[in-house]
Amino acid sequence: MADKNQQVYPIAPSANGHPRSDEESLVAKEEKRKKMIKWAGYIAAFTVFQVLVIVVFALVVMKVRTPKFRVGDGLQVKALTSEPSVPSFNMTLYAPIRVKNSNFGPYKYDATAVTFTYGGATVGQVAIPKGKASFKSTKKINAEVFLSSGSIPSGIPSGGNLGSDLNSGTLTLNSKGAMTGKVELMLIFKKKKAITMDCTMVINVSSKSVQSVQCQ
Ligand SMILES: *[C@@H]1O[C@H](CO)[C@@H](O)[C@H](O)[C@H]1NC(C)=O
Ligand SMILES: *[C@@H]1O[C@H](CO)[C@@H](O)[C@H](O)[C@H]1NC(C)=O
Repeated sequence: MADKNQQVYPIAPSANGHPRSDEESLVAKEEKRKKMIKWAGYIAAFTVFQVLVIVVFALVVMKVRTPKFRVGDGLQVKALTSEPSVPSFNMTLYAPIRVKNSNFGPYKYDATAVTFTYGGATVGQVAIPKGKASFKSTKKINAEVFLSSGSIPSGIPSGGNLGSDLNSGTLTLNSKGAMTGKVELMLIFKKKKAITMDCTMVINVSSKSVQSVQCQ
């Protein structure tokens, strides 16, 4: 009987009861499965990394920041004559106008003008030609601007008291401007960005110097 059984099962069963060739393929299958789990892990880690890269890219690189348009700290009085009794003044300012672009791409702007006012009345203007503030940099427009109370067509503005301001020794001026342009990202994405300037300058008449410059 035992011999007959041997004939029915020509391949000797192994310790776990499976025929030898099946066991070998099982080991191979198990190895393949482990390899696949390992690769799935790699792919998952890589995907998470990619998502992080995209999120950082979107938040940092693709974010459109508003450029800053202002009169820089280097503002200087080059010439100043005043007559409190008239009252009137003539002044030449060296105005470092700045367009600060903190985007990861250039800001291309259209031609505009910066208007200087005293007591709400225009006393001078500077033309800003169209240009470009490069990737993370500041465009410097160094202008010389002539300001005169004689530029006010209606004479002395009601918004200030020029005679007493000149007597007290300080003149408060304002510079305003509006700029339109486009921020360019990755050479293809363009976003319109309009920016404004609103600066207040205090000029010391007796020392013919700039006491303060403040921009909003
Ligand atoms: C300002 O300039 C105008 C024109 O050049 C002149 O007539 C006027 O007297 C000047 N005023 C002062 C205070 O210098
Ligand atoms: C203008 O400048 C002079 C000299 O620096 C100074 O003595 C004077 O106090 C200043 N005037 C004002 C109104 O601050």
